[in-house]
Amino acid sequence: MAGRVRGSARALLAALLAPALVALLVTPARGRGGRDHGDWDAAVLLPPLPPREDAARVARFVAHVCDWGALATVATEEAVRGWPFADVLSLSDGPPGAGSGVPYLYLSPLQQAVSHLQENPHATLTMSLAQTDFCRKHGYDPQSPLCAHIILAGTVTKVNETEVDFAKRSLFIRHPEMKTWPSSHNWFFAKLNITNIWVLDFFGGPKIVTPEEYYNVTFQ
Ligand SMILES: *[C@@H]1O[C@H](CO)[C@@H](O)[C@H](O)[C@H]1NC(C)=O
Ligand SMILES: *[C@@H]1O[C@H](CO)[C@@H](O)[C@H](O)[C@H]1NC(C)=O
Ligand SMILES: *[C@@H]1O[C@H](CO)[C@@H](O)[C@H](O)[C@H]1NC(C)=O
Repeated sequence: MAGRVRGSARALLAALLAPALVALLVTPARGRGGRDHGDWDAAVLLPPLPPREDAARVARFVAHVCDWGALATVATEEAVRGWPFADVLSLSDGPPGAGSGVPYLYLSPLQQAVSHLQENPHATLTMSLAQTDFCRKHGYDPQSPLCAHIILAGTVTKVNETEVDFAKRSLFIRHPEMKTWPSSHNWFFAKLNITNIWVLDFFGGPKIVTPEEYYNVTFQ
């Protein structure tokens, strides 16, 4: 896994300095029974989808409201060496209402994905509004572009000392159980360093959004 952490810092800083950012996007849902992801409950309190023609904004919206994604890495297991290999990983791009766009991950060297990334840090990450109530409520099939979903490509890198506090806060507020994961697994904070973005939010094929456009989005 690439150890260097660069890029996206400006965006992160901008996000942190913009208190209005996503302020209305999501309100944390406290104490709603029956759910196990703490204060955060996108399925219950999902704000309206941004205009579909603003693909960068839709991408940031999807990245913020999703608590997990499917991360595809290149397999190193002998039976499937070199094949794409997707697994579900919990993630967070920031505390509710303060999304940075950066997908943070909490990883252990014991995970298959991490073994793969040690050989090849490239990965793609898929997140979909099918993970929320949005598509069910509107009757959109998960494969329909109306059920907005995004594919982010990049490299998975460890986050450095400076960024680790934000990564930890972002993840633990949405995945409180992480605090209790066994320390013997050597969990560490990582992120996807996004290089390419595809947004499927309407008919006519995927829209391309650049990381610059993606991180440039602010919510108020
Ligand atoms: C992130 O990706 C960009 C573009 O490929 C690259 O220049 C940069 O070094 C990467 N950053 C890290 C921390 O790997
Ligand atoms: C840590 O990472 C952030 C975000 O990528 C970057 O802005 C910062 O310069 C890095 N800090 C150090 C000490 O490398
Ligand atoms: C960044 O956002 C501003 C204000 O919304 C916009 O005018 C500008 O074109 C955007 N730049 C990029 C690279 O998306």
